[in-house]
Amino acid sequence: MFGWIIPPPKPSEKSKETFEHERQQKVTSLKEEGFLNSKIIEKAIRKIPREEFIPVDYRDHSYEELPFPLPGRNSTISCPHSYPMFYEAISLSPGDNLLEIGTGSGYGAILAAEVVGLLGKVTSIEIDRETFLYAKEQVSRYDYPNLFLIEADGGNGYLPHAPYNKICLTAACSKIPPPLIDQLQRGGKLITPYGIPRNTQDLILLEKDTRGNILMKSIEKVLYVSLQGKYGI
Ligand SMILES: C[S@@+](CC[C@H](N)C(=O)[O-])C[C@H]1O[C@@H](n2cnc3c(N)ncnc32)[C@H](O)[C@@H]1O
Repeated sequence: MFGWIIPPPKPSEKSKETFEHERQQKVTSLKEEGFLNSKIIEKAIRKIPREEFIPVDYRDHSYEELPFPLPGRNSTISCPHSYPMFYEAISLSPGDNLLEIGTGSGYGAILAAEVVGLLGKVTSIEIDRETFLYAKEQVSRYDYPNLFLIEADGGNGYLPHAPYNKICLTAACSKIPPPLIDQLQRGGKLITPYGIPRNTQDLILLEKDTRGNILMKSIEKVLYVSLQGKYGI
């Protein structure tokens, strides 16, 4: 995988208790490093076992700041800090209607479903069939009636659940797909890695104000796989 040194695959040896301990420690370090301030996002990260979403050959590294390859053509589970970084930037909260483009492992979708709660909804779209089936299998172990996984090109958004007040792209684009801007409600927020493939990208926070004006700012440098499909790069 470009830009990262991924440890060689090996079967997992760590116990459930070790993972639990590492997860709680990870929360402490995310807070110390300033990535995690929201109590509700903290609660979700403490609760959801990230290791269950990571292919078994990489599972022992679940709480290291590394992305890992997933079944599929170009899919990864992102680094642990990226989830609070994205979700805090869009102020993900109970009751939100979130659209996620790039389900990957399903970990981010489950975290979000936990945060938005039963008054909210998470629609997560994955373009790669093999990755989609992998995510579906992981997510099926949980009971989140507010989470909907869709196999499709997320660049087109998902009209049946629109408008969204939060949209999160987990793949880099060089143009924000217009259907996503259309499906973002006024006062809503969209976050996306934005830039050239195989280079660091800007993490862009886009806000649609109450008059429909679009404001964009770069909040961080990131390195993500590229968006595929109609609006891909
Ligand atoms: C960095 S990974 C997602 C990580 C994921 N959020 C997680 O928690 O594991 C990016 C994903 O976006 C998917 N993707 C790329 N282009 C897409 C598109 N147009 N529509 C939907 N998914 C797309 C890739 O197949 C890949 O699985």
